[in-house]
Amino acid sequence: MIDSYNRNIDYMRISITDRCNLRCRYCMPDGIKLCSHDDILSFDEIVMVCREAIKLGIVNFKITGGEPLVRRNCHELIKKIYALDGVKEVTLTTNGILLVDQLDDLMKTGIKSINISLDSLDRNKYREITGFDELDRVLEAIEKSIEKGAKVKINAVLHDRDFANDFLSLIALAQKYPIDVRFIEMMPIGLGAESMLVSNEDLIKILFDSFSNVISDKSKHGNGPAQYYKIGGFLGCVGFISAIHGKFCDSCNRIRLTSTGDIKSCLCFDKSIKLKGLLKMEDAEGVYEALSKSILEKPEKHCFEDIKNITETKKMTQIGG
Ligand code: GTP
Ligand code: 5AD
Ligand code: SF4
Repeated sequence: MIDSYNRNIDYMRISITDRCNLRCRYCMPDGIKLCSHDDILSFDEIVMVCREAIKLGIVNFKITGGEPLVRRNCHELIKKIYALDGVKEVTLTTNGILLVDQLDDLMKTGIKSINISLDSLDRNKYREITGFDELDRVLEAIEKSIEKGAKVKINAVLHDRDFANDFLSLIALAQKYPIDVRFIEMMPIGLGAESMLVSNEDLIKILFDSFSNVISDKSKHGNGPAQYYKIGGFLGCVGFISAIHGKFCDSCNRIRLTSTGDIKSCLCFDKSIKLKGLLKMEDAEGVYEALSKSILEKPEKHCFEDIKNITETKKMTQIGG
């Protein structure tokens, strides 16, 4: 469906849980209030939303969390969405901790693309950021996913003064493996507002200063807003999701379904439309109307510069990034 600013909305991000098995300090620190289990949408309810979304031209779905793989049988949901008529692609964004255990089941669903979050290759720093000493498990998940034929992208948020070292060691993964390594600018949502913002402009400068053969790559790598660069001799690309400095809102293609059934038409605005009641009454037409309304009300751009307007009640784990 085309929105009020002539953008084609064909992608929905679905947060299937606000729970996570890590405690990244900028996203989900200890003590964060979790949603009640009763409020979380069932798989059938999520599938009903997807069915109506497809009628509006939304054909690509991203499964996120919290951490989606902590929800039992995540692969069953992916299978159910793939079974819907008209669906094009279902992809997953995960922290990788449970990925090796679930990889076979996931690959059987037909999923082709898996994004894995990894902010540092330094063991101590990984533990400091996430609260857990699980770096090896994530590295194993990356290798196994490549082996099984998944298209893998790494998502990294850098957030301290040592960012240049983290940047250079992470992009070496794209040299070693045929995977994309992407850098997301920290957004001032939840505790992200209190963290240091590393500008992608600075990272791109480091990239060009460190390698002589860097070229912009405009080919399609997925459904997201990342901009990619190829480096001579690298098997994968380096990508940048410049949430703050790059204004990619004019080509935004997405809406979001939170784990409790709220439709958010923009990541950073508080405004949302509640679907839970409609889903409980199995009011498919009502869901269709609500989705359509949300797309028509989608704002022109984010409001990260205007901190008082930014969503306060919803943390990243509830929205799904
Ligand atoms: P693919 O490239 O197709 O995998 O899609 P993607 O980049 O949208 O997927 P992913 O879930 O890996 O998203 C990476 C991160 O980019 C998210 O966690 C968000 O932090 C950020 N992001 C994604 N979409 C948006 C958006 O519309 N606006 C903003 N500001 N940030 C976004
Ligand atoms: N800003 C940018 N990215 C964030 N993520 C979580 N919180 C923020 C934030 N405030 C990222 C995680 C993960 C992805 C799903 O969202 O690092 O890679
Ligand atoms: Fe969990 Fe991802 Fe948030 Fe880390 S960034 S706490 S892995 S949801």
